[in-house]
Amino acid sequence: MYEGVSEGDVLQISEPKNRFPLNEDTAFSVLFAAGIGITPIVVMAERLHDLGKRFVLHYCSREPADAAFMDRLANSAYVDQVKFHFTHGDSRRRLNMLGVLEQEVAHPLDVYACGPGPFIQAAKAAAMAVGIPDERFHSEHFGAVSHPAGTDQGFEVYLDRSQRSVWVPADQAITQVLKASGVAVETSCEQGVCGACLTTVLAGTVDHRDLYLTPAEQAAGTCMLPCCSRAKSDRLVLDL
Ligand code: FES
Repeated sequence: MYEGVSEGDVLQISEPKNRFPLNEDTAFSVLFAAGIGITPIVVMAERLHDLGKRFVLHYCSREPADAAFMDRLANSAYVDQVKFHFTHGDSRRRLNMLGVLEQEVAHPLDVYACGPGPFIQAAKAAAMAVGIPDERFHSEHFGAVSHPAGTDQGFEVYLDRSQRSVWVPADQAITQVLKASGVAVETSCEQGVCGACLTTVLAGTVDHRDLYLTPAEQAAGTCMLPCCSRAKSDRLVLDL
């Protein structure tokens, strides 16, 4: 974009995709946000308020000065449903997400979390501990899971529809190899977060490294995110 687009150029774009949708039919929602993770959450809070739905928003940040949308939240009509948590660098002041959910779990609820990886993992663990089903826990990550460098190996990918094989070296993603081979595959985040490259797996064992599929979907092994996930077997067969 920076190098190739000039003022006045006409661009063809797709509709936005929402991989972090709000369940507007829910009775009660708990919204957890950390840092800039408030960005989608603040809009969810506004929508729930407009719909007259019950919710509580817990916003965590190190310092008030680091927090975004403070004026918007403080001056909102739902400010009494917003709880601010500032640690000031003291981990003992961290929000007790399990405690929050234990108080609310008496009624059916949806839980939303947006923030850094450890924050999402803590929210997920708390939701699991109180028995919230996978489909009622919603999260949006900032980035991919990191893996130790130098531990990957190459493997073969057979493209079933194209009836051809490609070799994926240790230092390249499947989608990189596919694009270099002229195989059309949609990508966006290229970090296993957005789901744009979701691909059906016909054979082989996937080494799932995404943050998009649920644990059950990963265990089923019938689809994968080839922008980041790799193979545990010597060969994968993909529906491409
Ligand atoms: S491009 Fe976003 S998950 Fe693969």
